Amino acid sequence: MARINDNYLKLQAGYLFPEISRRVSEFTQANPDATVIRLGIGDVTKPLVPAVLKAFHDGVDEMADAATFHGYGPEQGYDWCAQIIIDKAYKPLGVELKTSEVFISDGSKCDSANILDIFDISNKVAIGDPVYPVYNDTNVMVGRSGELNSKGYYEGLVYMPCTEENGFNPEFPSEKVDLIYLCFPNNPTGTVATREQLKAWVDYARENDSIILFDAAYEAFITEEDIPHSIYEIEGARECAIEFRSFSKTAGFTGVRCGLTVIPEELMGTTATGEKYSFNKLWNRRQSTKFNGVSYPVQKAAAAVYSDEGWAQVKEIIDYYMANAQIIREGLTAAGITCYGGINAPYIWLKTPEGMTSWDFFDKLLNECFVVGTPGSGFGPSGEGYFRLSAFGDRENVETAVQRIREKWGK
Ligand code: MLT
Repeated sequence: MARINDNYLKLQAGYLFPEISRRVSEFTQANPDATVIRLGIGDVTKPLVPAVLKAFHDGVDEMADAATFHGYGPEQGYDWCAQIIIDKAYKPLGVELKTSEVFISDGSKCDSANILDIFDISNKVAIGDPVYPVYNDTNVMVGRSGELNSKGYYEGLVYMPCTEENGFNPEFPSEKVDLIYLCFPNNPTGTVATREQLKAWVDYARENDSIILFDAAYEAFITEEDIPHSIYEIEGARECAIEFRSFSKTAGFTGVRCGLTVIPEELMGTTATGEKYSFNKLWNRRQSTKFNGVSYPVQKAAAAVYSDEGWAQVKEIIDYYMANAQIIREGLTAAGITCYGGINAPYIWLKTPEGMTSWDFFDKLLNECFVVGTPGSGFGPSGEGYFRLSAFGDRENVETAVQRIREKWGK
C-alpha cells in the first residue's frame, strides 16, 4: 500500500476557513431564519468592474475565432501582461523590473505555498504569530517542522510574535533563519510597515543571508502616504526578497484567479556544493514544469485593471471597502472595543470584549448577533484574545453588523 505524507497528520484538523464554514452552516441549518452577515473570510463581494469585464469578454471572444485563438501560453505569463504590471504597478513606485522577473500565476496563495519547491528542506523558516495560515501549514506539509507543541507552535519553525506591545510588527527572529515570511499590509492584523521598519528588515536579511518572502496581496488598500507598497522600494531588496502580489482583493479576482510573483535576477542561493545559483532560474524551471500559465482571457482582464478606466473603477471599489473598514473600526471603538488595522488594510483586528477567548467570541457573535468573523487564535497562539473582521461586505450588511455588535457590547 502507498505511504501517505505523514506530515499532513501533524496539521490541526482543518484549515481555518473551512472550519468556520462548517460552524456557520451548522448554525444556519439550526436557525434557518437568522440573517447571517459574513465578515469572516476576506472574500470580495463586489462584481468585476466594467473595464475588466469587457477585456475578459473580448479575450473569450478571441478564443472563439481560429485567427485569434490562443492555445498554451507562456508558463510565466504573457510579456505584454507583465509589462503592463511593471509600467503601472511598479514604475510609479520607482521600482524597475524586467518581464523575466515577473511570473504571472493563478494567485498568491498558491505561489506562497509553491515557492517552497525551490528551497532545500534544511532551510530554517521564520513566520509571524499570528500569521496567514498558509505559510505555517505549507511548511508543515513539506516536512520542515516537527509536531505541534502544547503552546500551539510547530517544533522546528521559528515564530515571530506580533503583539499589541510591538504594534503587531514581527520581532526579528530569535535565531538565525534562511527564510522570513513578511506580509504587509498584514493579514490578519491589518498593520503596515513604515519605510524605516521595512528597511530594517531588508538590512537584517542582507546581514544574515536570509531571504524575505514578502506578501503584498493587500498593498492596494494602503491609504496613508509614504507607506511602501513594494519591498523593492527599499534599497537592497532585490538581493534578498521575493514579492507576491494578487488581483484577488485588489480587483475582485478571488473567483477569477490571478496573481504574480517577482523574483529579481540578483536573488541567489547556494547549491549543496556552495556555488551560487539564481532563484529566478529555479522558479522559471518549476513553473515551466508544474504550471501551464494563466488563461489568456484572465490575463486580458488582469491587464485591464491597470488601464486608466479600469484603475479608476477598481479604486472606487477599494475605497468602498475601506469606507466599510472605517465604519467597523469607528463603530466598535465607540462600543468600547479596542481595534487595530482597518486604515491601510481591509481587516480590523479587535481585542475580544470581556477577555473572551477568540472562539468563544466567535460563537457568541454568531449565536447572538448572527455575525461571522475569524477567531484570532486561528492565526496562531498570539492571536488568542483577538478577532478579525473583514471589510469586504455590502455597506448595509456592514452597518447592520456594527449595529448588532454595538447593541450587544456598547456602553
Ligand atoms: C483571508 O480571509 O485571510 C483570505 O481571504 C484568505 C486568502 O486570501 O486565501
